Amino acid sequence: MAASDASQTGPSLLLSSEQEMIRQTAHDFAQNEIAPIAAQFDETGEFPSETIRKMGELGLMGIEVPEEYGGAGMDTLAYVLALEEISKADAAHGAIMSVNNSLFCYGINRFGTEAQKQKYMRAVASGKSIGAYSLTEPMSGSDAGTMRSRAVRDGDFYVLNGRKSWVTSGPVADYIVVFIMTDPRKRHQGISAFIIETRQPGFAVGKKEPKLGIRASATSEIVFEGHRCPAANRLGQEGEGFKIAMTVLDAGRIGIASQALGIAEAAYEAAVLYAKEREAFGQKIGQFQGISFKLVDMKTRIEASRLLIYQAALAKERAKNTGQRFTLEAAMAKLFSAETAMFCAHAAVQIHGGMGYSKELPIERYFRDAKITEIYEGTSEIQRMVIARLETGLR
Ligand code: CAA
Repeated sequence: MAASDASQTGPSLLLSSEQEMIRQTAHDFAQNEIAPIAAQFDETGEFPSETIRKMGELGLMGIEVPEEYGGAGMDTLAYVLALEEISKADAAHGAIMSVNNSLFCYGINRFGTEAQKQKYMRAVASGKSIGAYSLTEPMSGSDAGTMRSRAVRDGDFYVLNGRKSWVTSGPVADYIVVFIMTDPRKRHQGISAFIIETRQPGFAVGKKEPKLGIRASATSEIVFEGHRCPAANRLGQEGEGFKIAMTVLDAGRIGIASQALGIAEAAYEAAVLYAKEREAFGQKIGQFQGISFKLVDMKTRIEASRLLIYQAALAKERAKNTGQRFTLEAAMAKLFSAETAMFCAHAAVQIHGGMGYSKELPIERYFRDAKITEIYEGTSEIQRMVIARLETGLR
């Protein structure tokens, strides 16, 4: 595909000129500025500050944030289109972009006070600051309601203690939305959300996670030791934290589905090119049914993922008026797209044979990057559990 045109692999949905524009902008930036550096940043694991700053200038860090708060003021469809394009060039950039947009800005836009939006959402949406989201703890992952970290009210402050893990952008974040227990007796209803400033005392970046994939996105533990967070930085009411975390994850999962779609497409396009060029036994390998049927399965799953993502994006847009949850649509989109990314990356390595296993091509990176989409923001098992509960009403 030509680097100047994003429309050739695009959806058959009628997009507005604004949506087309952001997709093309993301596509051009991804192909011209991210793709050439992706392998190097994957190798070193360095955080790509420069390209992330430029993405902020292009309006990619707060796509759905209203313009009066420094965002691009667009809709969810615009967001998923842009995230897919960025992730197609490099899933690590996609991870950083998705955390800023959905895990940080979406929650503050929906649940924050005017002052919180002005101070924190504006800075992150405009790309001047990096945001993060922290729910997981060393002993609490899928079972998110069992966290051990504590926040205790002390006048106009809360005093935070504890250790959180697997925080995407944790080592570089300026601000983090943290979920922490304020009343352990109440379990889920005893969790509260806070916006914390990482430059304040009592906060430290902990162990950096050495990861299989998305290696240029920085991930670490974070540690609170008597960190004093102003009560004005509580997001929502005391005890509302779990519902805020889940609502934000519903939005986040649509983003991860788009990231997965981008990886799947990159793997698929590389596999088609290779199948048309590489010869064995006197013919192009794409002429073997064993290869062509793999390509068919990849393409069909990619297009099905795309439609599930658009359905989820539209459900999230409708929710702005109705207030209805889009949990089911988000979980289905993430589940299917993540498994599609893994399926396509696996098939692309196989089609490329030895070259798929070599670091000379990006195929092995797609394979490593795809795996995280089946794990973070809720494993595929959790998505199945969410869907099953909603469909059957059984627990
Ligand atoms: N929206 C709004 N409210 C929700 C909700 C949603 N999507 N899901 C649940 N709730 C509410 C329920 O209605 C319930 O409310 P009441 O107390 O009023 O009844 C409350 O939350 C508790 O719900 P459940 O009883 O269903 O809770 P549970 O303990 O059974 O867990 C779960 C539900 C779906 C399994 C949830 O724990 C979950 O999603 N786990 C996965 C966590 C996850 O995705 N972690 C990844 C963290 S982010 C990350 O990966 C790192 C990063 O940096 C990117």
